Amino acid sequence: MKNLKWWQKTIAYQIYPKSFADTTDSGTGDLQGIINHLDYLKSLNVGAIWLTPIYPSPQVDNGYDISDYTAIDPAYGTMEDFERLISEADKRNIKIVMDLVYNHSSDKHKWFLESKSSRDNAKADWYIWRDPKFDGSEPTNWRSIFGGSAWTYCEERKQYYLHTFAKEQPDLNWENPDVRQALYDAANFWIDKGVGGFRIDAIVYIKKPKIFIDGKPDSVDGTFSIHNAIANTAGILDFLYEFRQKVFDGHDIFTVAEANAVKPEELKFWVGEHGAFDMLFEFSHTNVMFPTGEVWHSWKTWKLTKLKAALTESQIATANNGWYPIYFENHDKPRCINNFFNVEFKTRNEELLAGKAIATILLTLRGTPFIYQGQELGYTNTAWDSIDCYNDISSIDQYNWAIRDGFSASEALKFVHKFSRDNARTPMQWSTQLNAGFSTAKTWLPVHDDYKKVNVEVEDKDADSILNYFRRLIEIRQNSEVLIFGDYEEILTDDENIYAFARSFEDKKIYTVINFTMQSIKFNADFLKDSKLIISNYGNIQAENLRPLEAAVLIHNSE
Ligand code: GLC
Repeated sequence: MKNLKWWQKTIAYQIYPKSFADTTDSGTGDLQGIINHLDYLKSLNVGAIWLTPIYPSPQVDNGYDISDYTAIDPAYGTMEDFERLISEADKRNIKIVMDLVYNHSSDKHKWFLESKSSRDNAKADWYIWRDPKFDGSEPTNWRSIFGGSAWTYCEERKQYYLHTFAKEQPDLNWENPDVRQALYDAANFWIDKGVGGFRIDAIVYIKKPKIFIDGKPDSVDGTFSIHNAIANTAGILDFLYEFRQKVFDGHDIFTVAEANAVKPEELKFWVGEHGAFDMLFEFSHTNVMFPTGEVWHSWKTWKLTKLKAALTESQIATANNGWYPIYFENHDKPRCINNFFNVEFKTRNEELLAGKAIATILLTLRGTPFIYQGQELGYTNTAWDSIDCYNDISSIDQYNWAIRDGFSASEALKFVHKFSRDNARTPMQWSTQLNAGFSTAKTWLPVHDDYKKVNVEVEDKDADSILNYFRRLIEIRQNSEVLIFGDYEEILTDDENIYAFARSFEDKKIYTVINFTMQSIKFNADFLKDSKLIISNYGNIQAENLRPLEAAVLIHNSE
């Protein structure tokens, strides 16, 4: 057990490069900006940085539409900048983790331009082409994840191509061995550059069913979700094992796949000693508010037991085999302060308690914690007053969808405020200066209007800031065998107000208790007898009582 790998003991930090730090007065971030702030990341004791895509891209989906898999987008800098980033990070014992977007490329990738040019070119079957139905319509009624048909017609071929996401993101044909080899070669190119791992995007969609048929419509427009049609199709593991063997095996790197459809009983094929990857980002805890799939206007308040069950299930699923990344935010999710409490906070103090409470869970569960940029500063959602202010392709789709389903424009905008991916993508707030010190130019997305208070410069100096709370928690975790190695056990399982769990290793035990409500809660604290406080978001604790949003970590005193 003590033979854990480096990435099981580290803290990972996700950077959204477009919004991290701009050194060229362009309004978008760049690689030099990341290099300039490596010492900041070191001050958080981060050991791995996951960069969302920095490859050349038309930016229809902010880099998840890649037009060259082995180059750097000039907006971010040059290959030399990237090599410098690797070596500067290495000096601080930090690894760089790249995002592999292999289900689809950009429609401007040279492979697709060739593929679409005729039915008999050398790359004719590098993407997924089908003839129209007899009436000329789409081959199936599948709806893409960003809305509208998952098929787009191509005049040159008089055929449709499939796209799980936007029409500018055509799906690659993994059945073709040349496609697979080209993708493996690209990943090996980055291994040769010295990357420390990969996050693998949307991988559950790479295998398509043998026969393409209409699904029973699940939307008023007669379409059927492509996720339900193709996610985790039988046979996918053959591709994944080959991927592992041709790229990942034999390197001291980690892989974490985005996999929103893998059931706990299948986990042994996906992670662990014989699995395809080291870790999986799964979605059960981030989807507790969506009973029927990720339709924003279908969200409901949820019971705490649902969130707890999701977290506990993944802890148990990887207890004996495999390992999970722990996360509460990423570039696709709202800010955790707004997302994991059935409460609208009124004061900054409440928000800070909430942000520290989630941080406490993040850093005391078993697995590799992933912090998302700004989370450590206590970022909250934005709320712009028109849909035209939003950049995110899925916010625009979800807005139109709500209108189609009968909501007014202002109601539709409220759903966007709550769930827009742009909530996570506003620029990093470094200081009280112009544009929060992110850039001197007009920024590609507006800076959050709270930046004078919420920024690195101010929080650095404030001993009680959430930033310094993160630093303390990280230090506690890094020095605790219990928190790194220990087993997980949920306590007070049926309680709808409190999340409590124990981590234990050899004869030591650490408890985490969190009050998710705005009330003081009396509880049976027998299990905390003989325990002493290590850290709490109130700075102290009361016997048998948890104050609103209180989070505390205690160690059992075995002496
Ligand atoms: C993943 C990414 C998301 C992107 C999508 C399509 O879900 O995290 O940002 O839009 O894949 O590549």
